[in-house]
Amino acid sequence: MSSERKSRTFAVVNCSQLLTLAGPQRPRVGAELREIGIINDGGLIVRGGRIEQVGTSTQIKSRIDSDTEVVDAGGRVVLPGFVDAHTHPVFAGTRAGEFEERSSGATYQQIAARGGGIQSTVNQTRAASVDDLVSTGRRYAEWFLRGGTTTVEAKSGYGLSLEDEIKMLRAIKRLDEETPLRYIPTFLGAHTIPKEYAARRDEYISLIIDEMLPRIAQEKLAEFADVFCEQNVFTTDESWKILSAARCHGLGLRMHADQLSLSGGAKLAAELDTITADHLEHTDAEGIAALKSAGVQPVLLPGSVYALGSTHYPAAREMIDAGLAVVLATDFNPGSSPTPSMTMILSLASTHMKMTPAESITAATVNAAYSLNRGAQLGSLEPGKIADFVVHDCNDYRELAYFFGTEHSWQVYCAGEPQITRIKSG
Ligand code: NIG
Ligand code: FE
Repeated sequence: MSSERKSRTFAVVNCSQLLTLAGPQRPRVGAELREIGIINDGGLIVRGGRIEQVGTSTQIKSRIDSDTEVVDAGGRVVLPGFVDAHTHPVFAGTRAGEFEERSSGATYQQIAARGGGIQSTVNQTRAASVDDLVSTGRRYAEWFLRGGTTTVEAKSGYGLSLEDEIKMLRAIKRLDEETPLRYIPTFLGAHTIPKEYAARRDEYISLIIDEMLPRIAQEKLAEFADVFCEQNVFTTDESWKILSAARCHGLGLRMHADQLSLSGGAKLAAELDTITADHLEHTDAEGIAALKSAGVQPVLLPGSVYALGSTHYPAAREMIDAGLAVVLATDFNPGSSPTPSMTMILSLASTHMKMTPAESITAATVNAAYSLNRGAQLGSLEPGKIADFVVHDCNDYRELAYFFGTEHSWQVYCAGEPQITRIKSG
């Protein structure tokens, strides 16, 4: 959503728990991840699409006049909309066939090596128009919203030619303008070497640096650049070149690092002082220390570990104990992580990464917003921030991570505008 829409004033009251996530004006580290700012029997006032006040229901009721619209949350839980800081939400087709192959034993890397994987989505995305991509993207936007997500970081990376990367970024821009979901665009031309450049990879890297980056920066189609740094994809030297060039064009830096092997990604992220290093399933203690000294935020993506049938989850506890400002995201994409559900991610983080529900919610809201340079506007419910919040149909926030395989959202507000209402039975 590119503009704030309405100027009406309303109050929400009778929230069994209002999770404000209020705190210091920076990402949360260590024990701070458990401080989610709960107001029991809470409420809030929204004016002009922004949060005007938060407090107890009694305080809020005493501040409103008889003309103010009042929403009764009915004892449900309210928290900021999830900020999903790593997604690939624009693509054509699916990879349900590869999913079936993997269910019979093939690995993600084997499928990629025979020309499937990312390349198969590239083939389908190249054949699609911007309208096609917007139309499938709308379907996924609705899934995100239904799950209580109000902002997504959105990567290109299935075009891998100048025109097709621009086509993807234009589709992301249109989705931002035409749906209530906020999209923050990232250029991922370095997702894989496309098949036509297999024997001349240096030429593809030059294409990214000399043609794609200048054009995308000039047209302001992306805020961030990302590289898939991995064995058999982009080496650390290639990733360094591409990300250094992106920085010269004013783009913020993110990186797919150490996902499938320990390939020096975390260390390179630290050396380049990127904003985030994402995945980190194979990052060791040295890599964690390097991220800490450079202040890089880890973006952990347990959905891709789960969906690839692996058990090699990233070392979230060690990262939190080392003082890193951990972020959780879905990695929504047609290959390794076909889920838009942040509550599924909260469940995986608790069951497999030993993060408490409170830590996970901090990682999925305020810390995620800071990783996208949106910490001043999004990610917590504090006066002055944009009123992106969700009423979840439970009375204890821990249920969001505990009951899995269902979405809990009952009402989703983007800039104070209600989007999706669920009727509670009984
Ligand atoms: O984050 N690792 C690279 N990119 C995606 C997978 C994309 C795909 O398989 O289409 C990821 O897991
Ligand atoms: Fe990814």
